[in-house]
Amino acid sequence: MRVCLLGATGSIGSAVLRTLIGRGHEIVALARSYPSTTILRQAGATVLRGDLARPEDWVGRIAGVDAVVHMACDFDSPMAEIDRHLLDTLLSALARSGPKARFVYTGGCWLFGPTGGTSATEESRFAPLPAFAWMVPNLQRVLASPEVDGLVVHPGMVHGGDGGVFRRFARDAAEGRAVRVTGSEAVRWPLVHCDDLAELYALVLEHAIPGSSWLGVANDGVPVGRIARAIAGGKDPEVVSAGTMAAELGEWARGYAMDQCLSGAKARQQLGWAPRHTDPETDVLAFRP
Ligand SMILES: NC(=O)c1ccc[n+]([C@@H]2O[C@H](COP(=O)([O-])OP(=O)(O)OC[C@H]3O[C@@H](n4cnc5c(N)ncnc54)[C@H](OP(=O)(O)O)[C@@H]3O)[C@@H](O)[C@H]2O)c1
Repeated sequence: MRVCLLGATGSIGSAVLRTLIGRGHEIVALARSYPSTTILRQAGATVLRGDLARPEDWVGRIAGVDAVVHMACDFDSPMAEIDRHLLDTLLSALARSGPKARFVYTGGCWLFGPTGGTSATEESRFAPLPAFAWMVPNLQRVLASPEVDGLVVHPGMVHGGDGGVFRRFARDAAEGRAVRVTGSEAVRWPLVHCDDLAELYALVLEHAIPGSSWLGVANDGVPVGRIARAIAGGKDPEVVSAGTMAAELGEWARGYAMDQCLSGAKARQQLGWAPRHTDPETDVLAFRP
C-alpha cells in the first residue's frame, strides 16, 4: 500500500514507520522541520514537508494514497482545534482524490478513565481525562466517516525505543534522584512496547474491518512502583501528586496518576496480534544507569 504517516518521528510513529517499511509498504511521511526530514529520509520514507496545523498546504500532495495513519500530536499546541481542522480538511480531500482510503486514527488509554479491577475493552464507555476529551468526538467522526474507511487504535502506555513513558524514570535514576511516580506506587498502567504496538498498527491497517477500534495493550495493568524500582535498582521511588506533575508539564500529565487495566484480547483473538514484549520489568533494565 502507499501509506501517508502523520507523526512518523514520534515514539509510536517511528516504530510504525520501521514496521510498515519492513512489510513492503511505500511511505510518505509529514515533516515540519529539517531534522525530522533527515530522520524520515534516512528511514526510507518520501518526505512531505508541512505542518499538521496547516493541512491545506499539503493535502493536495497525498492524492491517491491508499491509507493515512495519524499518530501526530503536540501537547504544547491547541490540539483540539488543530485536530478538528485537520480532519475537516483531510477527510474531504481524501474523499475527492480517488478510491476510498483507509484512515487509522490514534486514540489512547487515557480516554477510558480509571477502570477499577476489571480490564476495560473496546466496548467500554469513554471517561476521558479532561485534557484529552477533544479526541473522543474526533475518533467517533473517523469511525463513522463516509469519506474514508475509518479505524482507531488506542495505545496503552508505550515503552521501548528511547524509553517512551519510562524515559522520565530513567532520567531521574541517571541523575541520581529518586524516580518520581505520580499519585501512588500502586497506580497501574496498561503497557505496550513500541515494536509490538507497531505490529498492531500494521495488522489494523491491512486487515481490520472499517469502523472498528483496537486496544494496543500487552500487559493489562502493571503497578508503576514495580517499574520505578526495576529502573532504580530496587530503591524507593518518590511519590508526587498529580497537581505537581500538571504544574510542571501541563494538565495532560494528570493522566500519570490514572489507575487503569485495559485488555488487548480482541486484537490477539481477531487479528492474531502476538506481542513479544510481555515482561516490562526486564525490558526497562536497558534504561538502568
Ligand atoms: N506515547 C504513549 O504512551 C501514548 C499512549 C496513548 C496514546 N498516545 C497518543 O499517540 C499519539 C502519538 O503519541 P507519541 O507519544 O508518539 O507522540 P510524540 O512522540 O510526541 O510524537 C509526536 C509526533 O507528532 C509530530 N508532530 C507534532 N506536531 C506536529 C505538527 N504541528 N506538524 C507536523 N508534525 C507534528 C511530531 O513531529 P516532530 O518530529 O516535528 O516533533 C512527532 O512525529 C498522541 O496522540 C498521543 O496522545 C500516546
